[in-house]
Amino acid sequence: MAVACLGQAALAQSIEEKAQVCAGCHGEAGKPTDKAYPTIWGQNQGYLYLQLRDFKLGNRKNEIMNGIAKDLPREDMMALAEYFSQKKWVNLDQPRASEADVKRSETAITSGQCGACHGADGIGAGTTPRITGQSHDYLLKTMEDFRSKARANNPWMSDILGTLQPEDLQALANFYAGR
Ligand code: HEC
Ligand code: HEC
Repeated sequence: MAVACLGQAALAQSIEEKAQVCAGCHGEAGKPTDKAYPTIWGQNQGYLYLQLRDFKLGNRKNEIMNGIAKDLPREDMMALAEYFSQKKWVNLDQPRASEADVKRSETAITSGQCGACHGADGIGAGTTPRITGQSHDYLLKTMEDFRSKARANNPWMSDILGTLQPEDLQALANFYAGR
């Protein structure tokens, strides 16, 4: 076997090992261990990488993730993003939104143009995240964080959500989580 192949095999193994740390919260089989933790299995690759980079740089603040990303070299962040993006998205079986929440969401989606970036189906692509089927509690928290600028790594999202009411965010979290 060529030396290059051995090198690649060793790297692949170490990424799987590193991914074990993530499983403690993001789930052994793609279902997070706490309902407030985000799903990362099947999330878009470019988005996953950007978040790890932002956690590492401190542009996105979260005590747990800042600590974890701090020591990750770029190659590991790239490899972890690829690794998790290739996993299958897990259905969290969250309840569908009520008719009132769907109505309210449709109005918010039109005014916020969510579909223009996240896609009509909310699956996103590249550096734009999938939001359909994401954890309800996480969706609500992170939208509130954008709105208050506690999450300041994407000023556009803060501006867009800043034009909506808190009740809109609750409806949107119900809508996208249970879609
Ligand atoms: C101790 C629990 C814990 C561990 C271990 C952990 N995470 Fe996280 N992770 C979280 C929490 C909580 C959040 C949500 C942070 C927030 O609300 O901003 C998060 C957020 C993320 C996000 C952003 C998701 C999104 O939709 O924006 C990514 C990507 C991520 N983690 C990747 C990883 C990777 C890769 C590992 C392993 C190297 C890992 N995490 C290990 C708890 C953890
Ligand atoms: C101009 C394009 C654009 C529009 C319009 C837009 N988004 Fe986003 N959204 C993004 C991008 C890009 C990100 C990733 C930001 C980052 O890198 O942290 C994002 C992040 C998010 C996240 C965080 C997901 C996660 O896993 O943490 C949520 C939730 C979200 N958007 C919901 C919405 C909703 C709801 C609307 C409409 C009201 C909307 N977005 C409109 C581009 C957009």
